[in-house]
Amino acid sequence: MKFRTCVAILLVNIAAFVYLYRPGQLQNFLDSLSPVQQILFFGTLLGLSVLLLWSTLPAPRVDPTGKAVFITGCDSGFGHELAERLDKMGYHVFAGCLAPDREGARSLKESTSDRLKIVTIDVTDDFQVSQAVNFVKQNIGDNQLWAVVNNAGVAVFCEIEWCSVQEFQKIMDVNVFGIVRVTKAFLPLLRQSEGRVVNIASLAGRFTLPAFAAYSMSKKACIAFSDALRQEMKKFNISVVTVEPGLYKTPITHENYLIDHNRKSWAETPTDVREDYGEEYFDVFLKQVALSLRQARPKVQEVVDNMVEAVCSKNPHYRYVPYWRFRLRAFIISSLPTSISDKLFARSFKMSEPEARKNRSPRTPLNTSQKFWSTPEKENHQ
Ligand SMILES: NC(=O)c1ccc[n+]([C@@H]2O[C@H](COP(=O)([O-])OP(=O)(O)OC[C@H]3O[C@@H](n4cnc5c(N)ncnc54)[C@H](OP(=O)(O)O)[C@@H]3O)[C@@H](O)[C@H]2O)c1
Repeated sequence: MKFRTCVAILLVNIAAFVYLYRPGQLQNFLDSLSPVQQILFFGTLLGLSVLLLWSTLPAPRVDPTGKAVFITGCDSGFGHELAERLDKMGYHVFAGCLAPDREGARSLKESTSDRLKIVTIDVTDDFQVSQAVNFVKQNIGDNQLWAVVNNAGVAVFCEIEWCSVQEFQKIMDVNVFGIVRVTKAFLPLLRQSEGRVVNIASLAGRFTLPAFAAYSMSKKACIAFSDALRQEMKKFNISVVTVEPGLYKTPITHENYLIDHNRKSWAETPTDVREDYGEEYFDVFLKQVALSLRQARPKVQEVVDNMVEAVCSKNPHYRYVPYWRFRLRAFIISSLPTSISDKLFARSFKMSEPEARKNRSPRTPLNTSQKFWSTPEKENHQ
């Protein structure tokens, strides 16, 4: 049963209990209310319950007949599952794959109907994007392009000081400019169908944890792009929706890959930076990353359910956040002052001062005769 249904039933029960039995203090409370206030009190409880129950009813959906959907990043994860689900529902799916000859694309082809077409697309490549548009135009037949799902994405979870500028650029190129590139290329087709754009952002685009700089920057940009696009496309009746999952178990959150990636980046970091942090700090950091990744939620279908809603609902929400606990946590965190949310993140991610820094003798005060723009002498790191 959905969380909202439980809350609604609980509220109805409380209202009934209070109304029928009026025990002790509650009775006093009710007695203190005027008849109008009592009606308002019970009316509010009842109204809230009806609203909550109503919100759990399945939303009306569009008819998939004659509708095509283009999805990026179908090699694995959410995109792969979404392509299978939409194919089963009767949509004509154009499944964008980065590597069409690898296992992911092959198994997708095998498990779906012959309506589904694999399209080669690297979202960082202008030429491949325009080729994908041509492929869709040539193979869409009498159908209309109903939705574009920008799902392709990459991630790294490492601290800023050992995340290279190239790494920041790569993430932005896939997660941000990839979306811009693909959306702009397909908008003329979406205008004909008055369809929709579904962008897979992340809760990391709403708040930023340590080690999430590059990824969060890209997802915040994705949300900003979606917000502007939604307002600009209103005049063409094109809906723009974001799906913002928390941490789920898919290849993007694969522990070994992300740990190896950190080790490689650390090895390429300048020696003086590594000495400032110390190997011990880095080892603890890796353990924290591993621990956090192990908490990723395995129920990937929750995200895919929301992606299906985003594509198929007649009146989609602007924003979907799968799983009520993630929604609640996101709501609480975004309402907290930064000083408190920083402390919570630091505690949950065990951020501590590097031992190498603690053991170091106090800094020698700046020599007043030294000009502030002169090159400081290199510190002697132990
Ligand atoms: N899993 C989570 O916890 C989580 C949470 C919030 C948001 N998200 C977002 O959800 C989306 C899907 O991720 P996922 O969890 O399903 O992970 P995933 O399985 O790794 O899916 C990402 C897909 O994007 C593809 N891709 C990577 N670079 C590409 C490029 N340049 N052009 C085209 N495709 C490219 C990947 O192909 P290869 O497999 O060949 O690399 C992969 O198929 C991403 O945007 C991600 O940021 C995930």
